[in-house]
Amino acid sequence: MIRRWEKKDLAAIAEIEAECFSDAWSENMLLSSFSQHGFTGFVYEEDGRVVGYVGASYVFETADILLVAVKEAYRRRGIAESLIRSLFSAVADLGITRILLEVRKSNFPAKECYNKLGFVEIAQRARYYADGEDAVIMEKSL
Ligand SMILES: CC(C)(COP(=O)(O)OP(=O)(O)OC[C@H]1O[C@@H](n2cnc3c(N)ncnc32)[C@H](O)[C@@H]1OP(=O)(O)O)[C@@H](O)C(=O)NCCC(=O)NCCS
Repeated sequence: MIRRWEKKDLAAIAEIEAECFSDAWSENMLLSSFSQHGFTGFVYEEDGRVVGYVGASYVFETADILLVAVKEAYRRRGIAESLIRSLFSAVADLGITRILLEVRKSNFPAKECYNKLGFVEIAQRARYYADGEDAVIMEKSL
């Protein structure tokens, strides 16, 4: 089941962040973004547990996807794709026409997922991440 994320989900999201990323968002970071206008997200819940999420900020006609992850045991079941498609329709309703995101150059599964959803690479940023890895910037027009 996909639904908008709520404040009560932030601990579960932070837990998945920590499982997935060396530079994970903490629960406090999530809370401060969650509380701002222009930030939205969805969670995928199974058996009452959050197993995946997407979060984005938006201003004027552009949204930036800042958070996407699915718990390892639940991957390759279309969960990220469904979450991101839910985000597309929610932000389109707000008049947003362009979505941007950054992904590590080596993150093949994520890049494949974004390609499937119609994102295209528009730039790279050298040594963007704290560990020196390059970022790929991808864009999709709605
Ligand atoms: C990237 C991630 C979110 C994908 O989640 P997911 O729920 O497994 O993805 P989906 O099942 O919706 O896959 C959608 C498409 O993405 C592509 N894809 C996903 N995982 C893939 C993999 N391991 N290898 C190749 N392609 C992959 C496929 O095209 C897939 O479509 P298909 O199953 O019809 O072939 C997940 O691997 C993850 O959480 N990774 C760790 C966190 C992360 O890197 N987040 C992204 C940060 S930018």
